[in-house]
Amino acid sequence: MIEPCTFVIFGATGNLARLKLLPALYHLDKVGRLPEGMCIVGTGRREWDDTAWCDYVSELLEERVRGGVDSEVLQRFRQRLRFFSGDIQDNATFAHLHHTILDDNACPNNIVFYLAVQPSIYARIANALAAAGLNDEEHGWRRLVIEKPFGFDLESAEILEEQLHRHFSEKQIFRIDHYLGKGMVQNVLVFRFANLIMEPLWNRNFIDHVQITHSESQGIAGRAEYYDGVGAMRDMIQSHLLQMLTLVAMEPPPSLDADSLRDEKVKVLKSIRPIARTAVHAHAFRAQYSGGRVDGETVLPYVEEEGVDPHSTTETYASLKLYIDNWRWRNVPFYLRTGKRMARNSSMIAIRFKHPPQQLFRKTQLEQLKPNWVLLGIQPQECMRLEIQAKEPGLELRAHTTQLDAAYCGTTTNQLEAYEDLLLDVIENDCSLFLRYDEIRWAWEVVDPVLKLWSTERDFIHTYPSGSWGPAEDNRLFDRDDQIWRNALYEDET
Ligand code: BG6
Repeated sequence: MIEPCTFVIFGATGNLARLKLLPALYHLDKVGRLPEGMCIVGTGRREWDDTAWCDYVSELLEERVRGGVDSEVLQRFRQRLRFFSGDIQDNATFAHLHHTILDDNACPNNIVFYLAVQPSIYARIANALAAAGLNDEEHGWRRLVIEKPFGFDLESAEILEEQLHRHFSEKQIFRIDHYLGKGMVQNVLVFRFANLIMEPLWNRNFIDHVQITHSESQGIAGRAEYYDGVGAMRDMIQSHLLQMLTLVAMEPPPSLDADSLRDEKVKVLKSIRPIARTAVHAHAFRAQYSGGRVDGETVLPYVEEEGVDPHSTTETYASLKLYIDNWRWRNVPFYLRTGKRMARNSSMIAIRFKHPPQQLFRKTQLEQLKPNWVLLGIQPQECMRLEIQAKEPGLELRAHTTQLDAAYCGTTTNQLEAYEDLLLDVIENDCSLFLRYDEIRWAWEVVDPVLKLWSTERDFIHTYPSGSWGPAEDNRLFDRDDQIWRNALYEDET
């Protein structure tokens, strides 16, 4: 049985809580997965009582809930809601919070603290919680949930880690990379390890290269304060894309328990060939969006976005070529790229196989045989697809590309939000989809040399038109001319 808990959200009126956490908790309640008696405490500076908070939450759910709000579920959900008004800059707030929870019989003694606040105050809040005795597990468990970015570089990540560990043990800390909550990202493991057919091919003997792409048509969506100075490499590659890479590249773990999984992911990160300072430009590329048209609308260049320094050289596009120096992957390039204001929203893992060793069809019209691809569409379309060559019907020996698709390819109706899975795991104490600190550390080791060099080259950045597939110049990362970015699940889409 899952123990009831009090789920405290710091930053309850911020974007993360509004767009992701509260809708996810509602959906979990709807399917009966929240423990009876669980209570959700929003904290913030507003002078709200419980009713004002309930009304605020009900209103936001109207907009965010799949299939519309169910009045019975909403009624139940509202009963779980409490609001605690206080300033997190003030240490007295935490002692007051402690007493409020203890005094309210409706609030269970097990507590989750979800820090939906700026990462720069994670350590402050952890300290203040501890000073108020809220890290002490004598009368119930305490869990601290934080989200990427974990630091700004390796050094700051280490400092943050040390500060959190002063007061919380490793088993109390849940570090979220929300990509690990996505159904298709988890499916990478099932696809690889629950099927026999791929495993013999999943290595340097058969795979030519791997591409991991995350593109977004939106810009920085009003987040200049966070984004400018952070950039695409830190925002997406250091975290989400490297996590996807580890799932594609890892060895089968001995079991699915959290540490076995994470041990294997860490081994991959540790095996990534370090990028020497002199090799950065051969391995990494950055660019920034200029103006253009996206979804039929004219949009501004990055440097004219509200809140962005007009001279900013922060990258909104980054790509990276990595090699994993182990027996399975040596010399197979992994190309990672991400960008804002690109042609379309798409996250996809594309694995290209080598050509067959014998050119049997050389003297026929099949001369230009296309290679096989395995495509794992993460979003917006969840998809597993194998592209193969087959003969076209007719008298000629002509081939065309055809696909073997997983049955649910293209259906998006039952997609869960990543946070539903992750919040349930926090409540149930399952940390397999959460990051262990060494994963973060090794991911910083991978990107730090690039970031260090880029930070010294601040007078120029390439641009790409908004609404495009990014800068043409980054083709220089590819090892060979026949390697090009794969933009779409369907070959004829662009
Ligand atoms: C976040 C980044 O971690 O992930 C954002 O900070 C990015 O910049 C977002 O837009 C993408 O997440 P998703 O789930 O929309 O693909």
